[in-house]
Amino acid sequence: MTLLSRIERAWWRDAVTYQIYIRSFADGNGDGIGDIEGIRSRLPYLKSLGVDAIWITPWYPSPQNDHGYDVANYMDIEPMYGTLEDAQRLIDETHQHGMKLIVDIVPNHSSDQHVWFQEALRSPIGSPARERYIFRDGKGENGELPPNNWQSVFGGPAWHRLTDADGNPEQWYLHLFAVEQPDFNWDNPEVRSHFEEILRFWLDRGVDGFRIDVAHALMKYPGLPDLLSTEELEAHGEFLPDHLRPTWDQEGVHEIYRAWRKILNSYPGDRMAVAEAWVSPASRIARYLRPDELANSFNFDFLTSLWEPKYLKGMINRAVDAMAEVGAPPSWVFNNHDVTRSVDRFDLGLQNRQVNTFERQGDPTKFDIERGTRRARAGALLMLALPGGAYIYQGEELAVPEVRDIPEDRLTDPIWKMSGYKDRGRDGCRVPIAWKSSPEGAFGFSSNNALTPAEAWLPQSPWWGSYSVQSQVGVKGSTHSLYSQALTIRKSESGLGDGPMEWIDAGPDVIAFSRPGNFACYVNFGAAIAIPHGAEILISSVDIVDGQIPTDCTVWLRLG
Ligand code: GLC
Ligand code: CA
Repeated sequence: MTLLSRIERAWWRDAVTYQIYIRSFADGNGDGIGDIEGIRSRLPYLKSLGVDAIWITPWYPSPQNDHGYDVANYMDIEPMYGTLEDAQRLIDETHQHGMKLIVDIVPNHSSDQHVWFQEALRSPIGSPARERYIFRDGKGENGELPPNNWQSVFGGPAWHRLTDADGNPEQWYLHLFAVEQPDFNWDNPEVRSHFEEILRFWLDRGVDGFRIDVAHALMKYPGLPDLLSTEELEAHGEFLPDHLRPTWDQEGVHEIYRAWRKILNSYPGDRMAVAEAWVSPASRIARYLRPDELANSFNFDFLTSLWEPKYLKGMINRAVDAMAEVGAPPSWVFNNHDVTRSVDRFDLGLQNRQVNTFERQGDPTKFDIERGTRRARAGALLMLALPGGAYIYQGEELAVPEVRDIPEDRLTDPIWKMSGYKDRGRDGCRVPIAWKSSPEGAFGFSSNNALTPAEAWLPQSPWWGSYSVQSQVGVKGSTHSLYSQALTIRKSESGLGDGPMEWIDAGPDVIAFSRPGNFACYVNFGAAIAIPHGAEILISSVDIVDGQIPTDCTVWLRLG
C-alpha cells in the first residue's frame, strides 16, 4: 500500500469520530430530551475537543421503543428532535466548523409504525405488502408454534403472532430485536430500492456518510432453518458456514453494500459508510471493507477485551493484519451506547462477548473506580496511537462511569422488559451529559434552567455533576484535557492515524510500538518501568515521576 499524505488520503481512513446519542447530548428546547438544536449549540465544544467528525444516532420519526432504532420514516426528522430544516442547518454548520457528519441508518428493520408495516398488517397473506417483511405461517397443527427457534437479541422468541380483524390468530412476523422492530425482507427489490432512495436523500443534503445499524443481519439463510444449540455450534469451530448462522453475516449482504458503494462514489467528496457488524474473527470484518464495499467497519474488539497485554496485543495484531489484506484501515471503538462504560469494563473484566447480554453489569462490589478510570485513560491513549480511525462515545472524554443507580421504574431500554426484568439493559451508559457542575437545567443538559436532574428523560443521579464538562475543560489532569491534548498531538504527528506500526519488545507486561517519526507508545500493565533512555514525553495518562511509567499507564514518546 502506498503511503499517502494526510491531505491526499480519504478523511475517513483515520478520522476521530464523536458519537452523539441524540437523546442524551444536549436539550435545546427544554423538554428534557436531547435534540438537534442542542447539538448545534455544542458544535464549538466538539470542534475544540478536536474531533474530525460526528455521528448522530437515529434522528428519524420514531415511536422510540428502541430510542430511534425503530424508524417510522427514514426521510424525515423526529419532531421531538427538530425539523428537516434544523437538520440541514446542523449539517451545514458542522461543515463550517470543518467537521464531517455521519447519520445512522437502520436497514435491518423498521418500526411497526412504518407505513409499509401498517399496510402489511392490513393486507392479505401472500400480498406484495407482506413481502416487504418476513411473514410466515406458524408450525404445529394450527400454526400455534413459531416458524423456527430463533431468539430475539433482546430476549424471548424472535417471532410475533398476529391476530386478524376478527381476533383470530394468523401469521407470524420476524423481529430479531424488539417486537416493535419487524425485519425487512431484503430479497425484495422494493426494499433495496427504498434504501437506495434513502441514501440519496441524505447524501443530497450533504451528509458525509452513514453508520449502518446491524449491517451483518440484513440477509437470512433461505428457508430460515432452526439455529443449533450453543454446544453444537461450538463443535464446528470458529468459522461457521452460512446455514449454521442463518441470521448473521450471510454472503448475500455483500451484494447490497457493493450497490451502496456505487451510490456513495457517485457523489463528490469522500462519502463513506461504516458497518456495525458484530462478526468475528477480524477476517470476517475485512470482507465488508473490500475495495468495492464499505469504507469502514467498527472494530469492536476493545469492547470485548480484557485489560491484559497478551490479549490486547493479539487482538490488535489480528485486526491490523486482517484490514491490511483488503487495504482498509481499522476503526477502533472504545465505548458506545450499547455496552458498559470503559471505566467499569476494564476494571471488572466485562467482555460483552455478545452485545446485549446479561453479563453487562458485573459485580459492583468488586469495582474500584480509581483503577477503572486509570485503565480507561491508559486504554484511550493506546487506541488513539494505533493505526486507523477511532470512535469516541459522548462522555468517554469525561471518564464517566456506568450509571448503576437508575431506579428500576425509570429504566427504558426494551432489554429490561424483554429479559423478564433480569437485565437492566443499556440505560446506564446513556444518561444525559452533565455540562455544568450545579444541578440547574439537569446539570446544564437542558436549556430549561428549571429542569431538575431527576426530570431529564433518564434521571441523572445527584453525583453526576462531578463528571461535568465545566469541571474538566481546561483543567490540568482532567480526562477531557487528556483527550483534547492527545487529539492535538495526533493531528500534528504525521506518523499517527493511517499507516504502519511496529512492535517494540518491552517485556510481557508492556505493550509498546512505534509509528513513523520516532513516535512510540508504551502501555504498562505491570510494575513500574523506566522510560527508554533519551526519550521525550509527549503525553502520559498519569503523571510520570522520576522517569518511571507506573502500572496502568500509557505514554506517548519521541524516541531519542
Ligand atoms: C444496534 C444498535 C442498538 C439497537 C440495535 C437494534 O445494535 O446499536 O442500539 O438497539 O441495533 O437496532
Ligand atoms: Ca429537547
